[in-house]
Amino acid sequence: MFARTIAVVGTGYVGLTTGACLASLGHRVVCADIDEQKVAALSRGEISIREPGLAELVGEGLAAGRLSFVVGAGQALKELETEGKPVEVLFLCVPTPMGVGGVADLSAVEAVVEEVRDAMPAGCVVVNKSTVPVGTADRTAQLLERPDVQVASNPEFLREGSAVHDFLNPDRIVVGSNSSPDAAERVAALYARLGAPTVLTDAASAEMIKYAANCFLAMKLSYVNALAELCERVDADVADVTEGMGYDRRIGQAFLSPGPGWGGSCLPKDTHALLQVADSADFEFRLVRASIDTNTRQFRRMVDKVRLAVTGSRNGSLSRVRLALFGLTFKAGTDDLRDSPALGVAALLRQAGAELVGYDPGLVDSPAVAGLDPRLVTVADDPYQAAEGAQAVVVLTEWPEFRSLDWSRVAAAADGATVVDTRNLLDPAVVRRAGLTWTGVGRPTIE
Ligand code: UGA
Repeated sequence: MFARTIAVVGTGYVGLTTGACLASLGHRVVCADIDEQKVAALSRGEISIREPGLAELVGEGLAAGRLSFVVGAGQALKELETEGKPVEVLFLCVPTPMGVGGVADLSAVEAVVEEVRDAMPAGCVVVNKSTVPVGTADRTAQLLERPDVQVASNPEFLREGSAVHDFLNPDRIVVGSNSSPDAAERVAALYARLGAPTVLTDAASAEMIKYAANCFLAMKLSYVNALAELCERVDADVADVTEGMGYDRRIGQAFLSPGPGWGGSCLPKDTHALLQVADSADFEFRLVRASIDTNTRQFRRMVDKVRLAVTGSRNGSLSRVRLALFGLTFKAGTDDLRDSPALGVAALLRQAGAELVGYDPGLVDSPAVAGLDPRLVTVADDPYQAAEGAQAVVVLTEWPEFRSLDWSRVAAAADGATVVDTRNLLDPAVVRRAGLTWTGVGRPTIE
């Protein structure tokens, strides 16, 4: 017997992971999307997202008849109805991009609500899983105009690259609802097998938890990146400083690695959205504003590092200087280029006149490479080709394979003799032995 009948609307990153994982927990799940080709591919078990374990779960769900894919939210409801078990929980997992002035664009949520309004069986729960502004659950309830249908907010905390693992091993489950008291409990019960701590609350608090967590992470990284700058000025080593901080269990070792700045499809969007939430509540959230500003500054700082390493001066010219960029994605383990700090730094280097050739292991054989503007950076097939004739190698994404490159070969291919490692990824001694100088972030330069 299927435990619960679930419709998941939107088969993007969050929707597909949610659908496949809920099916693996024994529920009957129908996932809906408006993209017909995508639905056809998913129905054959073909997924375009690179996520460890996800293809296997989709395949298992399809084979077991617990998971299926249809075009349109209305069709998902019909499919379950036909099976004689109408939908009990409908998850909204549609995109909520940053719109004008940092306000989240909820038009996709609104379109789905419009489509399913009249088809929802009484007593079912509509759950918002997309990251949405505080107050969206109430707005969804108003749009629905169905007092017999409950609305809940159930934010997700998945990281790209470990989404399946994070879903099945959550630190916590959060569900908030202003509808009848049992709505949140019924949603939380879907995850009961995972045995995670569960926070049941009102809708606004659940929506706030998601922003609060992501913005805290962004703030933590901006703190570390600013600390790295200070370490450079006082000759301290940020690697030792953060290790020493991280043993304090109240701080923890995670999310303490300095870098070129934070990015991706979530932290930049959510920091701006929280500022917007604060603004509309007439509250100036200075810590979040400062975290964003520190991040913008961090991109510029990386450019100064490259100038100094290549020209010997922070004001030196990068005009026509050829640079090899190792890593273009927003973090290792993904082919996602959205709001990538690597590209943020690349744009500034290009503005300064540098000529950029990049290599990224995640982009080899990935369609995402088509999203790169060749006027910004051209992409090489391997790191040695990217290094050909370069005056500096700039490591921008923390792909572990960069550690085990043949650095003597990189040095032989390059024109210059310097590596700017914005992720403190490499072993400086290895780089040095290859005849290159190494500059990190917040660490002493090795000549
Ligand atoms: C982030 C959160 O970590 C998830 O909990 C959340 O569910 C997700 O956003 C979301 O809202 O959907 P994600 O965007 O996949 O996940 O990326 P992270 O792993 O958090 O990395 C964000 C950025 O911080 C990347 O640019 C990464 O390179 C950078 N970072 C991370 C550092 O510079 N240093 C670190 O120590 C950790």
